[in-house]
Amino acid sequence: MRIIITRDYDDLSRRAADYIGAQLILKPTSVLGLATGSTPIGTYQNLVAANKVQKINFAAVKTINLDEYQGLAPDHDQSYYYFMKKNLFDSVNIDPKNIHLPDGVAKDAQVECARYDQIINQLGPIDLQLLGLGANGHIGFNEPGTAFTTGTHLVGLTESTIEANARFFAQKSDVPRHAFTMGIGQIMRASKILLVVSGAGKAEILREAISGPVTPQVPATILQFHPDLTVIADQEAAKAFP
Ligand code: GLP
Repeated sequence: MRIIITRDYDDLSRRAADYIGAQLILKPTSVLGLATGSTPIGTYQNLVAANKVQKINFAAVKTINLDEYQGLAPDHDQSYYYFMKKNLFDSVNIDPKNIHLPDGVAKDAQVECARYDQIINQLGPIDLQLLGLGANGHIGFNEPGTAFTTGTHLVGLTESTIEANARFFAQKSDVPRHAFTMGIGQIMRASKILLVVSGAGKAEILREAISGPVTPQVPATILQFHPDLTVIADQEAAKAFP
């Protein structure tokens, strides 16, 4: 595990984008596993800027997102599809056919999970998986208690996740109760993982994730066993480190 502690969020965002940019320069056909949430927004802004000045090229890049809310159509402004388009895809030279997210409005959840597993199997292994950290230690939408071996599945979101994500919706009751997520087994099969964590509110859970007992109760703890994990945390998020 490599841990990089940055001065602040802007510095974190630059470092994370540089890490991803280097990946794209070394392998222009990279398969990127992408994440949503507020933490990677600055990283995406830096990637957009680097793409604009032609430092990095997305023409041959393929992306597989971690998750999507069940029940939100791609054009819903809180869907992860919409988030990705707004924060990255619409502003870089990626080919739309190379973008993959679970379909939040798929009629049959089981069929959708199988379809997504197939995409991951066909395009994988993911060269670089970007991850944020949920307040309860979730990665993607793999909530506490999820088996480490899972593939794509439909999850019931925990009360704490619904609470944490309510800030993006008009009211808490608008937050979907279920989501599709890539499984932990698939995340762990990525060749490299980059975990980005920002802010004092994540300090305790980050400490637990990287140095606590490895348990499905804190899904991110499994990352301790990944052979190529880089954690970029700002000073606030790193303040509970041992
Ligand atoms: C959501 C996403 C996660 C993300 C988490 C943390 O629940 N499904 O992939 O890591 O939020 O988000 P934030 O970065 O806003 O704290």
